[in-house]
Amino acid sequence: MTHDVIILGAGAAGLFCAATAAARGRRVVVLDHAEKPGKKILISGGGRCNFTNLHTASDRYLSENPHFARSALSRFTPGDFIALVDAHGIAWHEKTLGQLFCDGSARQIVDMLMDQCAAAGAQVRCNSPIGAVRHADGLFHVSAGESAFAAPSLVIATGGPAIPKIGATGFAYDLARQFGLKVVQPRPALVPLTLPAEAALFRELSGIAAPVEASCGKARFPEAALFTHRGLSGPAILQVSSYWKRGEAVRIDFLPGRTGDWLLDAKRQRPRAGLRSVLGEALPERLATALADQLGLAAEMGNLPDKALRAAQARLHAWDFMPDGSEGFAKAEVTAGGISTAELSQRTMEARKVPGLFAIGEAVDVTGWLGGYNFQWAWASAYAAGMAA
Ligand code: FDA
Repeated sequence: MTHDVIILGAGAAGLFCAATAAARGRRVVVLDHAEKPGKKILISGGGRCNFTNLHTASDRYLSENPHFARSALSRFTPGDFIALVDAHGIAWHEKTLGQLFCDGSARQIVDMLMDQCAAAGAQVRCNSPIGAVRHADGLFHVSAGESAFAAPSLVIATGGPAIPKIGATGFAYDLARQFGLKVVQPRPALVPLTLPAEAALFRELSGIAAPVEASCGKARFPEAALFTHRGLSGPAILQVSSYWKRGEAVRIDFLPGRTGDWLLDAKRQRPRAGLRSVLGEALPERLATALADQLGLAAEMGNLPDKALRAAQARLHAWDFMPDGSEGFAKAEVTAGGISTAELSQRTMEARKVPGLFAIGEAVDVTGWLGGYNFQWAWASAYAAGMAA
């Protein structure tokens, strides 16, 4: 046996776990089927990697156990990752809502992780398709291409199936099931939603964005929504998509922050104006026109009954869309669901019933909001396992 820890997956979580464990003197090998490490990091944040969020807290994560992430997140914080980034001379900035991005390129984050692995002596082996994994005599045996590895600790860090075209797979779930661990049904999250044919009018608005508040159940996100030729996207919609279930409505407040009888006020102030131009003061013109058309109030404001304007105002603040699906794993930024947290120690990420087996990152049923939360989970869960494996 030449290794203490085998890590499957050279993504965000796998590389950081490798560096952490190797820095403790563990002999670590990371195996990945891709031709290079950290491919999702490279395409993240539009190529600038939104590597953490200053407002990280466990209530910004979805999981069957909403408290599970708290322990790991509290032991490796955004401040800890920023310290690392600073120590490597990577310049960064806060874009909005606590989201930290590299000033330069996401490649700097991959290089930093690879440098850390090299400095601590962790081997990273790409182009290593993983074959059989067995557990015998206290060791995990992994065959990868022509090579075979054995170690007392095995870390599953192969992520989820979002964006299969860059090599994402559901391998983590197959392996977890092989070891008798429960998997919470994986589903695409942070994903554009599609609208049925009846919503054609809105699909004609493709490319138009507006600051709205989107909600689904109790989850509410005041951010931009974008109309697409297939339905709805933009940060507000991606956020609610993680909470959305088939058959549920996504509600949009097109004029968040407006209170009181503002349409009646507009009627008094501009009786000759049409609803279209009143809405056009606050919303992109084509959107204002589409909403006014849908509301069917073509007359001048002064001729519209107060009751109709009150009803129109209420609808503008709570416009329900009934998506018929999502754009699926092909377009999802993350996978919700995954290896059940009930199977894992929240301190170490080790499987309770299979000592030595760990699961970290997106493979686990912990899914962050949009905005750097998913990488922070990858770092924090990787650190927890890297300190224990
Ligand atoms: P990750 O997917 O990073 O790594 C898994 C590794 O396992 C990969 O290297 C893969 O090749 C390997 N692997 C998979 N199956 C295998 C198999 N069968 N055999 C061998 N190896 C296998 N998050 C965020 O916080 N800020 C952001 O800016 C973005 N931006 C973003 C943009 C886009 C387009 C996407 C798709 C995703 C994001 N994310 C994000 C999400 C973030 O990228 C994601 O949550 C983390 O990369 C998860 O880290 P993991 O290490 O768990 O998986």
